[in-house]
Amino acid sequence: MANITGKTTMVGLIGYPVSHSISPPMHNAAFAELGIDWCYVPFPVPTEPNSRVGEAIHGLRALGFRGSNVTVPHKQNIIPFMDIVSTAVEAIGAVNTIRVEENGTFYGDNTDAPGFIRDLRDHDVEIESKNALVLGAGGSARAVVFGLADAGCSAITILNRTRSKAEELAATMQRFFPNCHLGSGSVSDDIQRYASDADLIVNTTSLGMTPNVDTTPWDESVAFHSDQTAYDLVYNPAQTRFLQKANRDGAKTINGLGMLVWQGAISLEIWTGLDAPSLAMFKAVRQAMADKDK
Ligand code: ATR
Repeated sequence: MANITGKTTMVGLIGYPVSHSISPPMHNAAFAELGIDWCYVPFPVPTEPNSRVGEAIHGLRALGFRGSNVTVPHKQNIIPFMDIVSTAVEAIGAVNTIRVEENGTFYGDNTDAPGFIRDLRDHDVEIESKNALVLGAGGSARAVVFGLADAGCSAITILNRTRSKAEELAATMQRFFPNCHLGSGSVSDDIQRYASDADLIVNTTSLGMTPNVDTTPWDESVAFHSDQTAYDLVYNPAQTRFLQKANRDGAKTINGLGMLVWQGAISLEIWTGLDAPSLAMFKAVRQAMADKDK
């Protein structure tokens, strides 16, 4: 536990619930590794009976916080409180990182997209001019599609249970990335049609996540092939049914643990201006997960 004094620099996490978040041990381990007097504290901010998220944001400034992470259910509804936002926020429609500037203004950014891309690069996955298939069209899919298009994917197809949401996401991202070909379809009807041409297939739905480990978004009559990469944003279990199938078919498989760490590492860099100690952050996350399983 950090030795908190009157000089300690504070950053927070605003969300609900936050009691099971792995971010506090991850960031506090990083501050310890860097040898800086910083502390990361989670704050539960419910939406019922009234959302106090505006008060929470203004409280950051009043209390001299350097910044905060933002998680469910506030990632979208805090945008109006920001003074400046990044292009990623404009396209994705969600903030997960706030920096309180020295003059008290709020800068809002989204590190989910670069965190995802950083993890792909960490696994030597090429993105430029590649063809991606994204399953799901919710908040995480928005970050994934933005990241892939921004990193130079030439084509991205979004398949979703509710086809209209996939169409809407493809149309939004097409406006930001006119040179990327964005398509959409139905996850139940169109996997067969798009699977074989995809270099990278990403599950952004929660299907397969503990405790629903028997569920999968993938049509298992469709085979992966060995030069494909399957990425599942789910990291608990470490190998979802989706990744197990991809692995059996010889594809490269990656779970979302690295994205979790890298989005945190990039947030830390936004607050501190220092290089994040990613190894210490991975170690802390693995330890926190093991402690949860006890
Ligand atoms: P997140 O922020 O994790 O992306 P979300 O915004 O609620 O969460 O999005 C959940 C995604 O998982 C959506 O694409 C959702 O499909 P719908 O848009 O049709 O709701 C998808 N999803 C959730 N449960 C699903 C299920 N049982 N089968 C197929 N897709 C599912």
